[in-house]
Parts: sequence; C-alpha cells; structure tokens
Amino acid sequence: MEPNPLKKIAVLTSGGDAPGMNAAVRSIVLTAVHFNIEIVGFKHGYNGLLTNDVVPLTQKSVKSIISLGGTILKSARCKTFHTEESALLATKNLQNNDIDALIVIGGDGSFRGAVHLSRFWNKQIVGVPGTIDNDIDGTDNTIGFLTATETALDAIDKIRDTADAFERIFIVEVMGRNSGFLALQTGIASAAEQIICPELHAPEHHDLEQLCLRIQSAQMESPHNSYIIVIAENFWSGGAYGLAQTLSTQIGIDCRPCALGHIQRGGSPSSSDRILATKLGAQAVEAILQGENTVMVGEVSGKLKLTPLSLTGEKTKTIDSELIRIQKTYID
Ligand code: F6P
Repeated sequence: MEPNPLKKIAVLTSGGDAPGMNAAVRSIVLTAVHFNIEIVGFKHGYNGLLTNDVVPLTQKSVKSIISLGGTILKSARCKTFHTEESALLATKNLQNNDIDALIVIGGDGSFRGAVHLSRFWNKQIVGVPGTIDNDIDGTDNTIGFLTATETALDAIDKIRDTADAFERIFIVEVMGRNSGFLALQTGIASAAEQIICPELHAPEHHDLEQLCLRIQSAQMESPHNSYIIVIAENFWSGGAYGLAQTLSTQIGIDCRPCALGHIQRGGSPSSSDRILATKLGAQAVEAILQGENTVMVGEVSGKLKLTPLSLTGEKTKTIDSELIRIQKTYID
C-alpha cells in the first residue's frame, strides 16, 4: 500500500440500527489506528454532522463493544438531509474538523444521504451496509440481517408452542420495510404454513379468498393443528392486526395477530454478523486508502465487492431463487 496521505476519518451510524453496527465501528477504529489515522464519530447519524456532535474514537472506546446491540454512536433518520442547506452545513462541519473521509454505516436511505453530501463535499465517502432488512443490492447479507432472523425465528418458535397448545391460527408480522427477506427466511425456517411477502407471490395472488381457502383446507385435513402465517410488514393493509380482524369479521376465522416489531432490531449480534461487520469495517478503511469514493463495501459469495453508492438502492435485490423454487414447489 502507498504511504498514507489521510490524517483523519469520521464514521457515523444512520437509519434503523442493526445488530453488528458496533462491531463495524470497532473494526473501523482498529483499522484506522493501525494506519495511524485519527478517527472520530459523529453521533445520531447525519444529525451529528449538522450539529457538530463529534467524539474522538480510540482503541479504548471500542473495547468490549463487539457484543453490544444498538450503536454506541446512536442513530437517527435525518429528514432534512436532502436539502442543499443541510449538505452545506455538514460540509462546513466536516471541513472545520479536518475530516479527510467519511464512513457511513446504514441502509439505502443513509446511502442516498451520502450521495447527496458527495455533491457538496469533495472528499471520500464509503458506505458499510447495516440494516436488518437486507434490502441492499451489492452484498449477500447486510450487517444485522442474520441476527434479526434468529431473533424473529426464536419468537415464532415460541408462538408455535402456544399456537399448538390452543390449536390456534397466528399471524406473525416481521419487519423488512418493503422487502420480504426476513419474512421468507423466518417463514421457511419456522415451517410457517403460509408466508406472505412480495418476493414469494405477487400481491394479486394473495387475495383474501386464496388465503382463506388454504387455511380452511388445512383445518379440514388436520383440525387439531396450529397454523402460522408469517407476513412481511407493509404488504397487507393494516398488517397482522388488519388481516386478523378481516379474517374474523368477514370470514369468521378466529386468529391471533402478533407484530414482532422492534424486538427484531435489538440484541447481541450473532457470530456471523460480528464477522461480517469486522470484515466490512476493515475493508471500508482499506477502500478509502486505495482512493475509492462513494462506494459501498459488500460481500458477495465470500468476496469483497465494491458497488457505487448510487446503485445500492436502485435495483430490487433478488432473493435466493433456489430457495423460492423449493418453497413454491414442495412446501407452499
Ligand atoms: O429499516 C429498518 C427498519 O427496522 C424496518 O424494517 C422498519 O420498517 C423500519 O426500520 C422501522 O423504522 P422506525 O424504527 O423508524 O419505526
């Protein structure tokens, strides 16, 4: 590697927090320290860039954070970070702090913010994908997705126990914003009787009639069994609660709704997320040292992949087609 011209890097975590963000911060700090680069953190996502909320980061500040959920830098969604005024203010604060490069850990909204900033601040910006939704193109998994999958799966397995005891129907809503990665993964792993998410069936194939027919035929076949429907958030109007109410008032099917909600974002990151975050954090610093700009570091088939930040949210990320084939052909 060439002699290092960079003196100071900043990092921030933005958008929905994801388990493993701290592991990424740790790796970024340790890698920067290795290259004698000063490292600071802006707190509360892009808000910290606007309010100049900046803290020094050292080996000591990241000791023992690898196992922590959430983010020590705090996170936020900064609604104003699309205006020229906000980007100019952020630029001024970055310049006043002598920042040579910025690392943004977050999801597609955070990367849109990074692209916006890059039009005003002419230094390097590198993204690290961190979101439980896994909806970012350019990496097989985003940091946090696998931990959230395990958390949701654990909850659904527990719901199965009580559903079995009462021979009940449950509708379990998992997060994912507009994508069904969590729904598909947890639905298959929990052997859910139905999975409702955009990637598995087009919305028109999940009308109420179809849904009810499947429940009724399962109940006729095995009346004493539990029945679990895993549904992706924002896919059915009113979510799990709306669907449960419709089923009971319009069809007379008694069921219990359960939205797992923010519990899916918390908790200690799994070993896979810690490893992924450690790799991507180090590779983000290395990418900066190699002169990369406005790219995201990701991992595809075990290998580092750089994707322009502007493209990460452009394409809908595809779900494992083999998994979909097996689910549709043999299970669904
Ligand atoms: O993007 C992560 C995520 O948890 C989504 O799955 C969810 O739709 C959204 O954030 C919830 O956002 P908030 O915490 O702002 O309510």
